[in-house]
Amino acid sequence: MRAIDVTLKSRSYGVLVGNGLLASAGDFIAKVFPAGIRTAIVTDGTVGPLYADPLAASLRRAGFPPLVVTVPPGEASKSMACAERVCREMVRGQLDRSSAVIALGGGVVGDLAGFCAAIFFRGIPYVQVPTTVVAQVDSSIGGKTGVNTGEGKNLLGSFHQPSLVLADVGTLDTLPRREFNEGFAEVIKHAAIRDAGMFPLIERAHADRSALGELVARNVEIKARIVEADERETSGERALLNFGHTIGHAIEAAAGYGAYLHGEAIALGIRAALQLSEDIGGLAPRDGRAIGSLLDRFELPRHLAPGVSTAAILETMGRDKKFAAGRIRFVLLRRAGEAFVSGEVTTAQIADAVDRLRAP
Ligand SMILES: NC(=O)c1ccc[n+]([C@@H]2O[C@H](COP(=O)([O-])OP(=O)(O)OC[C@H]3O[C@@H](n4cnc5c(N)ncnc54)[C@H](O)[C@@H]3O)[C@@H](O)[C@H]2O)c1
Ligand SMILES: [Zn+2]
Repeated sequence: MRAIDVTLKSRSYGVLVGNGLLASAGDFIAKVFPAGIRTAIVTDGTVGPLYADPLAASLRRAGFPPLVVTVPPGEASKSMACAERVCREMVRGQLDRSSAVIALGGGVVGDLAGFCAAIFFRGIPYVQVPTTVVAQVDSSIGGKTGVNTGEGKNLLGSFHQPSLVLADVGTLDTLPRREFNEGFAEVIKHAAIRDAGMFPLIERAHADRSALGELVARNVEIKARIVEADERETSGERALLNFGHTIGHAIEAAAGYGAYLHGEAIALGIRAALQLSEDIGGLAPRDGRAIGSLLDRFELPRHLAPGVSTAAILETMGRDKKFAAGRIRFVLLRRAGEAFVSGEVTTAQIADAVDRLRAP
């Protein structure tokens, strides 16, 4: 087992990464919560049947008999309506301001359950038990919680750091191949912006799942250090995590949510950002190719679907809340493992990079 600390003064917490952690989750949770408090496991209809029983059994043994609240799997559960339903079930289940939430699932459950914990009785603690690659390397760390509205993603939410993160890499065994692969877009992103030395380990994890513990821990380390430097995304450090996301998000939205998985759209965004990094950031083409071939390895898309127009992508990008006052702040690579925010990238250059994603 590996332990990584996220150090944020009174909001500090540990991230434990290992295989089989679920079975002893109760013991770890007993170290961060007072004995006997009420807990609610919030999970979804796919993950619950797979993992809620062993987690609940471990919590019961540790003296935290949990209520289990199950939401439908999928992004649609990240809604105010669903958050209200979860909170009301917790009220009816006798949870109160001294209780805690355990989020068991992918990023959808983590964001939703974390948000419920942030608003329930004005805020109660929670534990993240992430079960997707995305959730283990990214969404469970950093305290961004929230839900979507009809107008856009993650528009309502709160910074609320968890009390503990338990990443059991054994749960990744049941992920469908496409969901497993898409998570590697975020892994490759982390390596590209911070740790080019991770490339061989990413290669290894493709063939050998026993490398996943080390890989997840190394990614948690990167995300943890960035969150520590910029907890609320104000200094610019956390913005580096948007590498591949400015164009990627726009592709995801312009193609219609659901056409691409998030990580698939981000892979295209990374490919475009690599091109821009070579053109104006000074990235050596050899480094760009190395990152591109890692994306290929995990079967992430190389070409943009013909139906998604460059105009639609640019139009969507203009509405991105991350575009501070109309200025494009674009994350580029100087070299593999080193990113910076550039204010120099023009819309025309972005349009060109998007066009170059199209199949010849
Ligand atoms: N808070 C953050 O900082 C942050 C960062 C990145 C992404 N996110 C959010 O995370 C969400 C995406 O998360 P995700 O990619 O984990 O998607 P997800 O939570 O929808 O999970 C993907 C699918 O896999 C299923 N699943 C989960 N774990 C499984 C397992 N172990 N075995 C089998 N099936 C399993 C789920 O039921 C779901 O159908 C988005 O809403 C995104 O906005 C948040
Ligand atoms: Zn992402």
